[in-house]
Amino acid sequence: MKKTDWIRPEWEKRIDELLSQMTVDEKIGQLNQVGPSPVGGFSVSLEEHRQMLADGRITQKEFDDFCSGAVRDTQEQDVRKGRIGSFLGVVGADACDHLQRIAVEESRLGIPLLFGLDVIHGQHTIFPIPLAGSCAWDEALWEESASIAAAEAAADGIHWTFAPMVDIARDARWGRIAEGAGEDAYLGARCAAARVRGFQGSDPAAPERLLSCAKHFIAYGAACGGRDYNTVDLSEQTLREVYLPPFEAAIDAGAATVMPSFNDVNGVPSSVNAFLLRRLLREELGFTGFTVSDANAIAECVIHGAAADRKDAAQQALAAGMDMDMCSRCYPENLRALLDEGQITGQQLDEAVRRVLRIKLAKGLFEHPYTRQTVSPAAHAAHRAAARRAAADSAVLLKNDGVLPLTAQTRVLLVGQLADCAGEMLGTWNLFGRAEETVSIKAALEEENLVTAYLPCCGPSMPLDCTQLQQVIDSEEPIVLAVVGELADSSGEASSLCNIDLPGEQNEMLTALRQAGKTVITVLCNGRPMAIPTAVEQSNALLELWHAGSEAGHAAVDLLYGCTSPSGRLTVTFPQHSGECPLYYSHPNTGRPLSPGRFSSKYLDAPLQPLFPFGFGLSYTTFSYSNLRCAVTEHGIEATVTVTNTGNRAARETVQLYVRDLVASRVRPVWELKGFRKCALAPGQQEMVTLTVSPIQLTFYDPAMRRVMEPGDFLLQVGHDVTDGLQATVTVTPTHIAAWS
Ligand code: BGC
Repeated sequence: MKKTDWIRPEWEKRIDELLSQMTVDEKIGQLNQVGPSPVGGFSVSLEEHRQMLADGRITQKEFDDFCSGAVRDTQEQDVRKGRIGSFLGVVGADACDHLQRIAVEESRLGIPLLFGLDVIHGQHTIFPIPLAGSCAWDEALWEESASIAAAEAAADGIHWTFAPMVDIARDARWGRIAEGAGEDAYLGARCAAARVRGFQGSDPAAPERLLSCAKHFIAYGAACGGRDYNTVDLSEQTLREVYLPPFEAAIDAGAATVMPSFNDVNGVPSSVNAFLLRRLLREELGFTGFTVSDANAIAECVIHGAAADRKDAAQQALAAGMDMDMCSRCYPENLRALLDEGQITGQQLDEAVRRVLRIKLAKGLFEHPYTRQTVSPAAHAAHRAAARRAAADSAVLLKNDGVLPLTAQTRVLLVGQLADCAGEMLGTWNLFGRAEETVSIKAALEEENLVTAYLPCCGPSMPLDCTQLQQVIDSEEPIVLAVVGELADSSGEASSLCNIDLPGEQNEMLTALRQAGKTVITVLCNGRPMAIPTAVEQSNALLELWHAGSEAGHAAVDLLYGCTSPSGRLTVTFPQHSGECPLYYSHPNTGRPLSPGRFSSKYLDAPLQPLFPFGFGLSYTTFSYSNLRCAVTEHGIEATVTVTNTGNRAARETVQLYVRDLVASRVRPVWELKGFRKCALAPGQQEMVTLTVSPIQLTFYDPAMRRVMEPGDFLLQVGHDVTDGLQATVTVTPTHIAAWS
């Protein structure tokens, strides 16, 4: 798909015909997305509605209407009248097809509905959370996991996912760091494009595909203090260089829709931000799909203090280029009056409706409105196998004193509450993955008869049981496998933390075990980078498994016993201490860079270096790099290096290329990732890898906001991670630049 594929003369003609027949109310209906609950979203259970009533989030009448089924009846009536264009959170082929039949057969113009859902890292087969998945540095895997999620969700009647989330996140306190591809703009862009391709395929109208939605536009990950929904204040240069590239890549890969973010950017909420939605998104990036607000975000512009009331918010949002209103009801309540009063134009309304209809046509809904996809048992089994591979490829080995891999049949004493918490392995944004279909670490070990005993001892929501701990200490077993981490809902939306240490008394447990002379192998299950210096110190080996999905347990066993050599590499920096956040590798040098000297940019009470740097990850083999050669060519700067597997196991290495522009009119980061390649190498095998930095990758925004490429020296580093590689300097001359342009 290309971004221009959404525009086809035959579709535009059909839209012209429809627009000429539509009433104003029917047009507004196309921009109205509703949920199965009075407040939208997934809160469909009676219990949740009771809670919302108690919290004052819904009125008594809304509650009564929900209980009596009046909401459903009213919605069906609205569909019949063409007053709803899309549903959020209606799931199941029968439920979707029922509403679709009303839209197609009983509404005046028969315009089909679009069913949207957050299919983030799987529908029934759950893959590792996106942050974990990004650590695989593997486009084929990113594409495959998204395509499987799409196939399963499409069988549930869904057309459209609110994914990929492509926000760059540099602050581990921000819970939604779990949903994206980490801290780096380049890696984030490659991952964003792959996930869009995976969801949509080459033809999003195919029954097994979903339309995608790149979100949250923009800079949501830069929320001040890592606190969700918080204000964002950053330079336009940083916005363009760091936060924009993944959106650009998603749009170039054909993302059908974009969701503006909740936050304000430099004082203007994204939902009403014409600079972002018109100039940047449509004029500069050439986006031709439609925008959908985040849940209730248009109404929240009043709370931001950017709109006087809901009507003002609706007016500003439509004028700014927000096409569909997710569940705030500001559009259906106000657009008609705004049009009558001349505060919005018919052209603005038609433009938004055109974009929504364009995507419905492209999805093929006018020809095939009903669910056509099913998932066979064989496909389901293949999905599980893919989830197992993905979970193993996403895990990052952070420490190993040689205890890993365990030899076959080594039995371990298992501790840690999380070892037996299958449901927690599914991570944030899991809607339909079931705990009883998820393989816990305990279950996977027991399948192979590898556990001598299981004593949970403690966990993120379990206080230390000293009796159990003493039993472990007193046992004859030399090897203890400790599963530690955080609960699934400690990361994700509205799950920011100011303390990202291991929660509870898990550190105390690890320390006691080590002091008792046990060999401690730790598996970490979590949704964000954590400040875990104690866990590192007290463990002989430490495997970052993340919230790894349906096959978490099997993947852990595959890695611990060496059926697979760990190949994941961190896409986020791990701090030593919560107070160091935000911590990321691609920062400017400052005039007093980090050094042991007192007057340098550091904290007095924290170590100098991050706990684990960006790109880091161990393997069961070793790799060496040699013969780095760099040259300026007609394609940019080419770096060629030889990478050799110097150990005795087959494994995969991710060759990483970083660049530093040494002198520039605006200071450049100390390193920027510009390329990577994953190579599978047998013991002793060598591969010559060439990575090219294209001329556009050497540009940046100068202080006057011009995109420039400046001649001078560039330092290149090719190697294993951002702190470990071979370096060479190349000089780019004005003649090179002239030849490239
Ligand atoms: C989230 C979005 C999500 C939407 C719909 C919002 O609260 O910010 O990422 O797509 O809900 O579920």
